[in-house]
Amino acid sequence: MADYKIAPSILSADFARLGEEVDNVIKSGADIVHFDVMDNHYVPNLTIGPLVCDALRKHGVSAEIDVHLMVKPVDRIIPDFAKAGASYITFHPEGSEHIDRSLQMIRELGCKSGLVFNPATSLDCLKYVMDKVDMILLMSVNPGFGGQSFIPATLDKLREARKLIDASGYDIRLEIDGGVKVDNIREIAEAGADTFVAGSAIFGAKGDSDANDYDTVVAAMRAELAKAKS
Ligand code: DX5
Ligand code: ZN
Repeated sequence: MADYKIAPSILSADFARLGEEVDNVIKSGADIVHFDVMDNHYVPNLTIGPLVCDALRKHGVSAEIDVHLMVKPVDRIIPDFAKAGASYITFHPEGSEHIDRSLQMIRELGCKSGLVFNPATSLDCLKYVMDKVDMILLMSVNPGFGGQSFIPATLDKLREARKLIDASGYDIRLEIDGGVKVDNIREIAEAGADTFVAGSAIFGAKGDSDANDYDTVVAAMRAELAKAKS
């Protein structure tokens, strides 16, 4: 089986109890903390910045933190996130005037780098920077909000990105973000994704009691992934 990773998006977590929420979701078997940064400029919403990333590290979070920058410009804020303990820093090509330079900056600061493609953004620029990315993230919704529906055309785009990665020979993760649920994660994996962001599907999951029930939903996602044919 491929090395699948589940990355809960804390956008849908209870921000008043964020440290505890992250601890619980990692305890439930999730792998990576997906950290959505929005600036009310590149996308029409405003979220969290480096201070919160740093606070999670100080709280004791040791899992990888996957910082998804939905901001423009990106270069000013990259060093702040590197210092705050980000593991991955990914950005949208539209957010940087100099994509190659921003990717290099991320790696020079000791983080893993990545590019994020909106539903209608072509993968073309990738071919020039395959040696400088550790992650390719395909948006399967328009960025800005959690809880939107998966855009089916992303499945073909995933197949296209998977071919590019395999042909390159580089070790690059292929992440999907938006509308990922228990009932579609398997076909998303079969289209080539290996890293799955899920916000509302995980943090919105409720068990029989009032308590959040992340164990059940993470286990259900893993069970679906185990059935995926690669
Ligand atoms: C959207 C964010 C996502 C979001 C996904 O712009 O990048 O990470 O939290 O949320 P769901 O899984 O609810 O679609
Ligand atoms: Zn995201």
